[in-house]
Amino acid sequence: MGKLFFRLGKKLHSFNSKFRMFFIKGAFLSFGKNTDIDSDVVFEHPDKIIIEDGVSICKGVLIDGSSNGECGVHLGKNSRIREGTKIHSYGGSIYIGENVRIGPNCVIYGQGGIKIGRNSGIAGLSFIVASNHTFDENDRSKPFRLQPESNKGITIGENVWGAANILILDGVKIGNDVTIGAGSVIRKNIPDGAVVIGNPAQICYIRKPKEGK
Ligand SMILES: CC(C)(COP(=O)(O)OP(=O)(O)OC[C@H]1O[C@@H](n2cnc3c(N)ncnc32)[C@H](O)[C@@H]1OP(=O)(O)O)[C@@H](O)C(=O)NCCC(=O)NCCS
Repeated sequence: MGKLFFRLGKKLHSFNSKFRMFFIKGAFLSFGKNTDIDSDVVFEHPDKIIIEDGVSICKGVLIDGSSNGECGVHLGKNSRIREGTKIHSYGGSIYIGENVRIGPNCVIYGQGGIKIGRNSGIAGLSFIVASNHTFDENDRSKPFRLQPESNKGITIGENVWGAANILILDGVKIGNDVTIGAGSVIRKNIPDGAVVIGNPAQICYIRKPKEGK
């Protein structure tokens, strides 16, 4: 479905108009075919955003591509970002793979880099943040916001189901075929096939592939 965009400084707002869309596509690092961008979507630094074929972005989403590298946000083929979600690369990079689903009202901050493998899904109200504040115990006069940040990055494998309201902290590597129970907080690496639950998340069991598969 054709949609319109309106350019305002470094921001782009979407509007229903094929005509404007035609011109605005050129503002992106790359913009694919058959995309579906709903109304009230805001893009910041679109010159650092890649949108592949078939991407769908729902109402009220904000995507900020600001990055020290060439690309801040990459939305893979047929990925879908649900309403109200905010994605900020904040100087790092966020790679969302093919067929990935990001649920409504999620927040993703990519300072240390985030990669979400194909066919994965993160349900609504989840928060993925690739950064932490650090504390210099010898200098307590400085408020935390003026102390250095630590940005390690987060990797999420393929076919991972992150249920509703999960929190994924910086430095974590999640394997393939993992299930994360609703409301879990992930602060350690998770192996392939694990079902994890709780705060901090614990491995409940590991799903093994059937023999011969
Ligand atoms: C993680 C999940 C898939 C586990 O399902 P399951 O393997 O069938 O597990 P069970 O329901 O048999 O529960 C196993 C144990 O873990 C507990 N448990 C399950 N999910 C839990 C959760 N999210 N948080 C805390 N404990 C949980 C159960 O109470 C049970 O404990 P018990 O043995 O002491 O009674 C499921 O519980 C879940 O969280 N689903 C998310 C649904 C959701 O968010 N949907 C919307 C997004 S698509």
